[in-house]
Amino acid sequence: MSIDRSYQASFNENNQEFVIAGKLRPQSEDEMRPLAEALTNSLAQVRGTFYLNVKRLARLNNVAFRAITNLVSQVCDTRPELKIEVVTSSVMGWSTRKFLPLAERLPNVTVNEYDNDFYPGQSFLEEGGFIPILRNQTKLTWRHERHLLPRHGLKPGMTVADICCGIGDFAVLVQKELKPSHILALDHSRTSLDYARKVAAEFGITDIEYVYGDASEMVIEDNQFDFVTCRHSLQIFDRPELILKELYRICKPGGRVYITNEKNSHCLGEPRGESIQWTYTEVAKLFADFKMDVELGPKSRRYLADAGFEDILVDSFMVTNGDGDPQDFANMIQAWENVFAGEMARDRGDSPEFIARFRQGFQDQIYAALHPKGYAGWPIWAASARKPT
Ligand SMILES: C[S@@+](CC[C@H](N)C(=O)[O-])C[C@H]1O[C@@H](n2cnc3c(N)ncnc32)[C@H](O)[C@@H]1O
Repeated sequence: MSIDRSYQASFNENNQEFVIAGKLRPQSEDEMRPLAEALTNSLAQVRGTFYLNVKRLARLNNVAFRAITNLVSQVCDTRPELKIEVVTSSVMGWSTRKFLPLAERLPNVTVNEYDNDFYPGQSFLEEGGFIPILRNQTKLTWRHERHLLPRHGLKPGMTVADICCGIGDFAVLVQKELKPSHILALDHSRTSLDYARKVAAEFGITDIEYVYGDASEMVIEDNQFDFVTCRHSLQIFDRPELILKELYRICKPGGRVYITNEKNSHCLGEPRGESIQWTYTEVAKLFADFKMDVELGPKSRRYLADAGFEDILVDSFMVTNGDGDPQDFANMIQAWENVFAGEMARDRGDSPEFIARFRQGFQDQIYAALHPKGYAGWPIWAASARKPT
């Protein structure tokens, strides 16, 4: 019987990391020999810690698992000084459960589910506190983006992926108004995805594929989508270039990647402009303290160019209290205040005096938004670029 070759294995000497990805389903130990040899050779080259990366391993049958664990056990016996770290992912939830007993049995083996704690703002974004923020934001940005998206290349009939989709409302709007042939929406927050599926069901929308995943390590084949969107998310990940690399990879040659990001310190309002400006300068610093760059918007061109894209198009637009019902704008600011001056400021250890002044700027912007002669604004940068053919 032939070996199931739907897996890939490689060794990176610099990281001392052996990566197995794909589906590993041999029928006999014999079929495991090439992989076992590669693993043995790689182990022989390593001192200190050896990383066995199974983050993107979608399937592993018992024949393969036994062969790997036997090999690891033997190495632990003969080289007790060597540490072996198995790097799993919650996206492949079974892998952590499968490898953990090995770590319990062998003192020099550890299992690290890498995406449990993989970017500094994760707890704020994934645990549901952001849901009211996202709901209000998309409502306000859609009136601008529905016109911008076709200008950036989105056409009916295209295959679309919305990566870091949050509560999925953008995917619903794209599906309803811009008629893609297929849309996949991926996020790493189970809470947001549950919410997204519920909202889609309430609207009777069944053709959006919501997927749990890590945007920096997607289990999606190369060159799949005509149009890939990633909104307000490069700015909250501490290594945006990793996500961009993946957006590039899953985009078809000739397809486009569309990103939106903010520059929070440029949020504004009148009257009470000074207080508002102070608060938003502090918002940018607060996010920076959690390694998030909410000033990324104007850097979009550079990020896209560095990631290898061409034909870069950058637009900016200002969401304002004049766009629709000013109360919608006010609700968004209130949702920001609740999280930024609540949980986030508390976690950073800010003083009550700071928090009071910080909150005041949000309240002043709400005042500006609702004032009959007031103006309040939130600037966004929407950029897209083509993957070379
Ligand atoms: C600011 S929200 C934006 C959500 C949505 N795009 C929107 O505009 O409403 C950022 C989203 O990115 C998700 N996220 C952050 N890092 C991620 C990663 N590595 N993989 C997948 N999703 C991620 C968070 O769970 C969150 O839903």
